[in-house]
Amino acid sequence: MATYTLPDLPYDYAALEPVISGEIVELHHDKHHAGYVKGANDTLERLEEAREKDEWGAVNGLEKSLAFHLSGHVLHSIYWRNMTGDGGGEPLEADGTGELADAIAESFGSFPRFRAQLSKAAATTQGSGWGVLAYEPVSGRLVVEQVYDHQGNVGQGSVPLLVFDAWEHAFYLQYRNQKVDFVEAMWRVVNWRDVSERYAAAKERANVLLIAP
Ligand SMILES: [Fe+2]
Repeated sequence: MATYTLPDLPYDYAALEPVISGEIVELHHDKHHAGYVKGANDTLERLEEAREKDEWGAVNGLEKSLAFHLSGHVLHSIYWRNMTGDGGGEPLEADGTGELADAIAESFGSFPRFRAQLSKAAATTQGSGWGVLAYEPVSGRLVVEQVYDHQGNVGQGSVPLLVFDAWEHAFYLQYRNQKVDFVEAMWRVVNWRDVSERYAAAKERANVLLIAP
């Protein structure tokens, strides 16, 4: 069975400058993201050992560790592809179809209101967390989630489409304590083509939970 692997970045370390420095991207990808990949694989190994020995005392902690590291791996894998050096603007300009732009307008009232909500959610995470635009498959709506660590405060079944890393490791070397400035700058590198592809894929699997709205 496959283990988790660190994906290559789809661009050079410096590709997101000046919004995110190459130094941050290198550390963030090669150290932090790599740490979550290793943590997920190590935890699976320890769970396997526990099963083989019929020793169940550590299961509670190991399940928490698995959720933390696996969610960290998933969110960072999406994060890198959510950004591009020539990104920014609004979804209609980038994806051509207008479907994501329509869904955002329907779910949030307007693009500026969506942008304000996601910015606020990301900037006001207390401690470590993320601001996330997600597809919620029961209602078919788009929602903003304020995710704590990588795995807390999440609606089950919702599919992350656009993720803003609000952990200090994502910005502190460059923005110091100005998290709001970092979040505002992030909008200049959003890869709307990637976000709209994720939206289309999530909608196709909308019945994944088999629950009526
Ligand atoms: Fe991160």
